[in-house]
Amino acid sequence: MTQDGLKMRAAGDRDVGVISKILEAATRAIDPQRDVSSSEVIKLYLSHPDQIALFIAELDGDAVGFQSLKRASVPNMYDVPKHWGVIGSYVVPKAMRKGIGSALWTETKCEAIHRGLTTIDATTLKTNHAAITYYTALGFVPCATEMSRIRLRYDCP
Ligand SMILES: CC(C)(COP(=O)(O)OP(=O)(O)OC[C@H]1O[C@@H](n2cnc3c(N)ncnc32)[C@H](O)[C@@H]1OP(=O)(O)O)[C@@H](O)C(=O)NCCC(=O)NCCS
Repeated sequence: MTQDGLKMRAAGDRDVGVISKILEAATRAIDPQRDVSSSEVIKLYLSHPDQIALFIAELDGDAVGFQSLKRASVPNMYDVPKHWGVIGSYVVPKAMRKGIGSALWTETKCEAIHRGLTTIDATTLKTNHAAITYYTALGFVPCATEMSRIRLRYDCP
């Protein structure tokens, strides 16, 4: 459920440190080796040529999550068909299960439809039950498994 004090905003270049901190906190338990440096955040999100939306969630002024949406070009690091959307979602542990991921999706879905995306891919580890349940709750359906990963897809209305 969403809360009072929750605000969504588009990310900009000034948010590199904010995104890095969220990424570090959100992935610490599932991928502690993940590179969350400023240069990685810039490469992966802020200056990525496929990036079409990047929303930050603030709870009482604190940045607690972000969601990324790309339009896949070919070739791409995710092996996603050309023009599909690619989503990534991150909420810091202290703010999980408060509806923040769902509120981010409301913004991202709106942007995806506005941009004419037909299908969005969410790829995560098969062992990441929180992410699988989260994406399923949003309407994504499993469509493939590859090694340690599972892919889910959302077909835009
Ligand atoms: C996946 C993630 C973004 C979900 O964010 P969130 O703000 O906690 O999600 P919400 O509170 O909006 O949850 C919406 C629904 O998703 C499901 N869900 C979310 N987290 C869950 C969990 N840990 N266990 C089971 N179901 C979960 C539930 O159905 C939930 O609805 P409910 O709380 O009413 O039961 C967050 O857990 C996260 O950042 N995880 C670490 C990073 C990651 O793995 N990202 C995904 C890979 S890109």
